[in-house]
Amino acid sequence: MALKNQLFLGSFVHCKALDELEYLHNAAICVDQSGTIVAVETECDAVKAKETVFPRLGWGDAEVEVVAAKEGQFFFPGFIDTHLHASQYPNVGIFGKSTLLDWLNTYTFPLEASLSDPAKARQVYTRVIRKTLSHGTTCAAYYATIDVPSTNLLADLCLSLGQRALVGRVCMDQLSPDYYRDTSAETSIAATRASIAHIQAADPAMSLVRPVITPRFAPSCSAALLRQLGALAAEHPTLPIQTHISENAAEIALVRSLFPEDASYAAVYDAVGLLTPRTILAHAVHLTAAEADLVAARGAKVSHCPCSNSALASGAARVRWLLDRGVVCGLGTDVSGGYSASVLAAARQAVLVSRHVSLAGDEGGEGEGERGRERERERLSVEEVLFLATKGGAEVVGLAGRVGGFGLGMEWDAQLVGLGRVDAAGEVEGPDGGDVDVFGWESWPERMAKWVYNGDDRNTKRVWVKGRSVHERR
Ligand code: GUN
Ligand code: FE
Repeated sequence: MALKNQLFLGSFVHCKALDELEYLHNAAICVDQSGTIVAVETECDAVKAKETVFPRLGWGDAEVEVVAAKEGQFFFPGFIDTHLHASQYPNVGIFGKSTLLDWLNTYTFPLEASLSDPAKARQVYTRVIRKTLSHGTTCAAYYATIDVPSTNLLADLCLSLGQRALVGRVCMDQLSPDYYRDTSAETSIAATRASIAHIQAADPAMSLVRPVITPRFAPSCSAALLRQLGALAAEHPTLPIQTHISENAAEIALVRSLFPEDASYAAVYDAVGLLTPRTILAHAVHLTAAEADLVAARGAKVSHCPCSNSALASGAARVRWLLDRGVVCGLGTDVSGGYSASVLAAARQAVLVSRHVSLAGDEGGEGEGERGRERERERLSVEEVLFLATKGGAEVVGLAGRVGGFGLGMEWDAQLVGLGRVDAAGEVEGPDGGDVDVFGWESWPERMAKWVYNGDDRNTKRVWVKGRSVHERR
């Protein structure tokens, strides 16, 4: 369905740098029929836009749809979830006291295997796309399952429901149950090729959906499969790659015993050509300094999954430490290792985890002098986690400069956010603002903090991907 030209009016907030938000008030953004931002004007209302901007763009008034944010509402870039398992969505919150390896066997593999039922896959995938869109996730890096038809269905559903996505058919040919495993490296590669071909044919311009090469993680891939996936990645030099790394101590010990000739977990992927600038590594909780340096040198990116790492008691990833080493990071919900599909929740959890990291080795101590300053630096700010959720994520999924902000020439992947307003009598007025009450005296940075710590999908009023309206809260 063809889009109209669109004019967005009001306040716009986006990330300028890791620790800096830019606030544009009384501003106008013009988005053309292809969903591209073609004008960003400050101090501009509808009248001025019609008189000065539309003529420049060759737009007649009649063909323009106008969307004006209400007082106190703001447009923010859509969130990018750099790691989640669409197939695990029915299990959110169901993990008991398990940790990674027993969680996989107890909860995860049975559910993933069951999605070879097409009706069940359609139900689950439709639900997870709608759910994440309603939380402002305009782009998601999805793992599906080993099943090709249902993986392809996930890509088709992303296209029809309008979510930008990377969709990966999961590769695993060892240390997995007989009922849920590729029978050989060759069948795994053939199935992966089939899924790549389907997804590329479904969206030939890769305008919204791209296939992603997806070795589940080193322990569930034979050396032959890893090698062949590295060759496949070389054969398709534009395709992204995603996998897990260094999430949990038992997993790391397993990798050491399975790949004794490789110096480290990161080296296992590097040896076969899977550590590249288009590789998304989920977790990276326990990387050594040498591994972090290798990841940075190869330009591979990290998906930080604070909810999952806490829920499965995997550990606390040192995000500042990774960033300081030059590793690009984004946020992942890691549904259903993570129990929430909300990137806003992941942003909040990233702050909390960074505060635990800042205490390591000195529980309860503030630290003084140099050490105190180091500890303070470990703590991520609201601005920083919002950067990871948008611009950082865009870089992680290979879409830097295309989405994640409101620059000229970027695509309109955005959410309209509204917080609840408290009137003079202390009553919350207007549309439902969820758990966030704004009294009116807060600065804009304070409003952003209130949103990060108390916001949820009730604050996400409307969502667009590539200019198309894909969710509206009623
Ligand atoms: N490692 C291998 N598979 C998985 C998975 O499904 N989730 C998480 N969190 N880690 C993994
Ligand atoms: Fe995961």
